[in-house]
Amino acid sequence: MNIVAIIGSPHGINGNTGRLLEEVINGASASGAQVELIDLSRMKVQPCVGCDACHKIGSCHLKDDFEGIKDKLLTCDGFILASPNYIFSVSAQLKALFDRCCSLVHCLPLEGKYGAVVETSGGGEDEEVIRYMERFINSIGAQSVGAIGSNMAGSRSFPGEEALFAKARELGAELFRSFREKPHFPDQAGYRASFKTRMKRLVELYQHEWTYEYQYWQQHHADTVQPAPPPAE
Ligand SMILES: Cc1cc2nc3c(=O)[nH]c(=O)nc-3n(C[C@H](O)[C@H](O)[C@H](O)COP(=O)(O)O)c2cc1C
Repeated sequence: MNIVAIIGSPHGINGNTGRLLEEVINGASASGAQVELIDLSRMKVQPCVGCDACHKIGSCHLKDDFEGIKDKLLTCDGFILASPNYIFSVSAQLKALFDRCCSLVHCLPLEGKYGAVVETSGGGEDEEVIRYMERFINSIGAQSVGAIGSNMAGSRSFPGEEALFAKARELGAELFRSFREKPHFPDQAGYRASFKTRMKRLVELYQHEWTYEYQYWQQHHADTVQPAPPPAE
């Protein structure tokens, strides 16, 4: 099983989030997964400019590391998203990646895959950031096997560290198991279904402009797409 672990901290694997992520990776590796780290602090992912090219042609005009990261997400068996809490949200580095994934959000190509979330904060409010990251996982089609988040006790040290690290390793093992067992998470089903319906309507509405995405839906979610009416004269 191939897992990609994407970390959005400017401190990469050497920061607090990196320390907690290491334990999740240890759990996945001990189960037999191959884990590739994608450290956004060492890569270039520019902010989305809203040009709609991805909707029309399926790729981005901006020349940087995004398309390579996108390919790894599309071909992996599972993935981990890791970020520090930056003002009640993810870091700007990870947010830039999320925004560049706009076409993945419209097409939900990660259906059938599983992700996990890692978060750290200085003082708390972890749940808000975790919920946001898990919603991103759902909005590209995947399911979240779970999340781990914690405030800090010091640099790279956590309150109740032993128990926290055990939980982190178990999350990595759970992500590995999901590849074989394909679990269904009923608590995510309602959101995923309503989000998919919303994206279907949106892509149908823009079908004559967003030709890549409309074709993607016809090929991959054929049962849920209406035939395209002829363009107006
Ligand atoms: C720009 C910035 C914004 C932050 N915002 C918050 C916040 O809103 N709430 C919080 O509890 N901690 C906040 N923190 C603290 C970090 O979330 C915390 O130190 C985290 O563990 C850093 O992880 P890292 O070492 O992987 O970068 C912030 C830190 C920075 C630099």
